[in-house]
Amino acid sequence: MNKLIKDAFTLLSFAFLATAASTAQEQNGVTVKHLGVNNTLIEVNGQGKYLCIPVQESAEEATVNVLIDGKLERTLNIRLATSKVDYTVPLDITEYNGKNLLLNVITKQSRATVREAKGDACWKNFTVSDTFDVTNREKYRPAYHHTPLYGWMNDPNGMVYKDGVWHLCYQWNPFGSKWQNLSWGRSTSRDLIHWEHQGAVLEPDGLGMIFSGSSAIDSTNSAGFGANSIVAMYTSAAASQIQSLAYSTDGGNTFTTYPANPVLTLESEARDPNMFWNNESKQWTLVLANALEKEMLIFTSPNMKQWTLQSSFGKGIGAQDGVWECPDLFQLNVSNTGEKKWVLLCNINPGGIQGGSATQYFIGEFDGKTFKADTDANGNIPTKWMDYGKDHYATVSWSDAPDKRRTVIGWMSNWQYAAEIPTMQFRSANTLPRDLSLFRYSDGQYYLASAPSPEMLNLRDHSINKSTRFSVGKKVKTFSLPTKNDGICEIVMDLDTRRSSKVTMTLTNKQQEKVIMTYDAQNAQLSFDRTQSGLVNFSQDFPSVTVNPTYSENGKVSLRIFIDRSSIEVFEKEGRFVQTNLVFPTSPYTTLSLQSNGGMARVSNFKVYSLKY
Ligand code: FRU
Repeated sequence: MNKLIKDAFTLLSFAFLATAASTAQEQNGVTVKHLGVNNTLIEVNGQGKYLCIPVQESAEEATVNVLIDGKLERTLNIRLATSKVDYTVPLDITEYNGKNLLLNVITKQSRATVREAKGDACWKNFTVSDTFDVTNREKYRPAYHHTPLYGWMNDPNGMVYKDGVWHLCYQWNPFGSKWQNLSWGRSTSRDLIHWEHQGAVLEPDGLGMIFSGSSAIDSTNSAGFGANSIVAMYTSAAASQIQSLAYSTDGGNTFTTYPANPVLTLESEARDPNMFWNNESKQWTLVLANALEKEMLIFTSPNMKQWTLQSSFGKGIGAQDGVWECPDLFQLNVSNTGEKKWVLLCNINPGGIQGGSATQYFIGEFDGKTFKADTDANGNIPTKWMDYGKDHYATVSWSDAPDKRRTVIGWMSNWQYAAEIPTMQFRSANTLPRDLSLFRYSDGQYYLASAPSPEMLNLRDHSINKSTRFSVGKKVKTFSLPTKNDGICEIVMDLDTRRSSKVTMTLTNKQQEKVIMTYDAQNAQLSFDRTQSGLVNFSQDFPSVTVNPTYSENGKVSLRIFIDRSSIEVFEKEGRFVQTNLVFPTSPYTTLSLQSNGGMARVSNFKVYSLKY
């Protein structure tokens, strides 16, 4: 190379280097350095509580390695924005203050050039900030149902009642509104209605993500973590699914993972440990879903750490068209006979009564080791369903609920479309809490009743309608729904259809979107039609007409209907049936119309309550 060319080349290289160096963008407290088409470094140098990370739901997940002083602290999977920012998610960086915080980001989308990769929307939108915006401005965020402050939520987990506080943990992705980075988020409530967001208490570790599980209070210090500690048992999920413990000695605010985890391993995919102290057998008892085998395994232990397999239940029994998940086992009184029976909840997905996920249950006897389900008159074990709507899953109960109550809560969605529902900064709510009891029906069978927890009565403000008793026939009678707070309300009524055959209750809004509920007395059924309820086309599995048996004998039924922006729960007053369904009306429903076919129906105790929240 002659000198001139060489000099020119050196000059050019410097120029090139200068350009490359200048492409490191510094803004909003971060410096972005592109290393190639799929690799970028984000140096965090600004001061603030949060690094706000820009997300686009339709983007592919990027691997975000968080390095503190060069050491890998954690790895997150985040849908970093490519063409537009849907919302940001906060990474709390307060504990890294004064240390070097670097994100080593590996993206997956195919990019021809670094220049193209640089164009992705996320890079300009990473921001260090002292605040994170969780203003509730999404119209489909329910008012009086529990929702995560932001991010994806599925199953309720680790529920325990202690010292006047209802603890509700849940499967949570704090880094996006789709399923990923499963952690246990936590909320607390003193009245089962108002919930306070407490953040993550268990986050993915070397054994994997934190899948579902339960918590119990170890009053005798049998595990050695301290008397009255809250002990959580959950599934560590990575290449395999194994069971781990964590404990809290500060009333559930923080959890420490047990250093000798896992405490239980099997050679198959087993998950969602549900652990309780059995006062009859004086043993810790654990029900674990042997998911792919579609059975529940029952173990016992003196100390929560060493578990002995006692039995299994479920092979070939009940609904079998999906994996078995999220079990629960408890004893209940039968309201109308005074007997006691054991109930085993076996959530199943898919293969639920309305397609997709649902909660089936079995009633029988449990001797401390083996669960034996009751049979019907033909000697078969019947499949029973806890809720006949489409959006009720992963329901389990609180440990140590006061006054011997058996209070449960479910995830108000369905795996068929949970990730597609039209919300953004948060995704999914819980059902209303319900108190369980058993009743014996005229067919000789026992059934589970799920009534709204008594606390829900405290939501009632005043009833906005004048007439509470009337008859209804072919001519439609229309009533206004509250306008306050997007029409959130509870509607109650007693229907007497001894002189009619069907009563139709229709909720309608300005756009003529509607939900049609029909009580068919002859067939003792209630149907819920949401095919024209509003936005329905985001999934082919969403538009549906769901039907439940009413377990009513004489053409009479008493209803409590709860409406909360994007959900409707229809309960028989005592909980003999319930249907939980999501709806996404373009604007709130404003009227309820009643009509009867085949004669006059009597309506009494009719009230439309606006709710205080
Ligand atoms: C049920 C479930 C559980 C699992 C969790 C993972 O919805 O699949 O079996 O632990 O969700 O998020």
